[in-house]
Amino acid sequence: MLRHLAAVPVYRHDIYTRAALLEPHPHYRTLRSLGPVVWLPRHRLYALPRYAECKETLRDDGNFVSGHGVAANPLANRLSRGTTLNSDGGDHERRRKLVAHRLMPRALRSLGEDVDAQARRLVGDALERATVDAVSDLATALPLAVVPDLVGWPRGERGYLLEWAAATFDILGPANWRALKAVPRSLHMLRFARRLVRERTVLPGSMAEELLTAVDDGTLAVEEVPPLLIDYIAPSLDTTISAISSALFLFARHPQQWQLLRDDPSLLPNAVNEVVRFESPLRAFTRKLLHESTIGEAQLPAGARVLVMYASANRDEREWDAPDVFDIRNSAGRHVGFGSGAHACAGQGLARLETTAMLQALVERVERIDIVAEPKWAVNNIIHRLEHLPVRLIPA
Ligand code: HEM
Repeated sequence: MLRHLAAVPVYRHDIYTRAALLEPHPHYRTLRSLGPVVWLPRHRLYALPRYAECKETLRDDGNFVSGHGVAANPLANRLSRGTTLNSDGGDHERRRKLVAHRLMPRALRSLGEDVDAQARRLVGDALERATVDAVSDLATALPLAVVPDLVGWPRGERGYLLEWAAATFDILGPANWRALKAVPRSLHMLRFARRLVRERTVLPGSMAEELLTAVDDGTLAVEEVPPLLIDYIAPSLDTTISAISSALFLFARHPQQWQLLRDDPSLLPNAVNEVVRFESPLRAFTRKLLHESTIGEAQLPAGARVLVMYASANRDEREWDAPDVFDIRNSAGRHVGFGSGAHACAGQGLARLETTAMLQALVERVERIDIVAEPKWAVNNIIHRLEHLPVRLIPA
């Protein structure tokens, strides 16, 4: 072990302190400059801060496995058993097939009009007010109006959904105070999902109902359903809230980019990719190494945990020209903000649909987005997103 570590540069800072979570890029930049693999002694993780190694690792899911969990602490890895995210090979394929088809482009087509209409309504309401919080009034309101219905979460039981979902991300960091504090709320969500399944109070026609039908048909065990519900509801809110609010933030800060998009709305798909590249909603997940392997010059022992740093890879100066410049003319489609390979985000079609719908609605009616008070960023081990973004929408 020591021989292996000698070849690997070491970074002694904690990249999960409040300050580092709020301003991660100086840490990421240093990590990338140290090498393709960097040992983080505080977290006992091999960090992969560069794009090429992140992508290779994500694509080698036979050796860099998810089945032992993708969190940076063993408790969360135990709690997330049974999810698509935490599984490998045949198990993973079977779980993914159960519901991911509902999020494929063809299935989403029928949802598209509704999402567009909801986005237009929200932008219309926002234009009638002097100022709005772009996070709660736009970025949160849209996913909340769409996703819980799709998954089948009962309408009267959504009060804690955002809090539970954020906690379910927080616990996936290292075993720090923030992760430990989030455990009760995350357990609450799991217990609630179990109750939904027991009482069958899910919405008709939803993903959850489809899973219960599979149970009735004998193709799925009933205890498999709650983790699968968590699998879809937990990552479907904060991530998209992050992308939509970061988009508003970036376009407010870069009015010339907003003008470019208004002049040429065919740049919308590019713009969504550039937002996810630039302000990657997910910071990093881990993989467990099955066999001893070499990355760069470093030999990593079997059983090691690597940290796949999506957000750092997306700013890697080896991969991107001017990575710290937000420019919607970039071809950012190869970013790893949605992951890559077998575990690439199953909900990215929906996330793109929602983010595009919001930007489209804004492009149609808004000439400028003005930030009217200091934005506030949320602190979460995994999710990078704004908590408040007070803005005034200036009508076209
Ligand atoms: C901008 C929004 C989103 C971002 C940036 C994002 C990011 C990611 C990333 C990076 C992964 C890969 C995890 C890994 O490598 O282990 C992932 C997986 C996943 N995401 Fe998303 N996500 C977003 C939205 C959504 C939505 C809306 C849903 C569901 C409706 C969703 C459901 C999932 C699921 C089920 C997986 C696990 C896939 C698997 O393990 O096969 N995500 N997401």
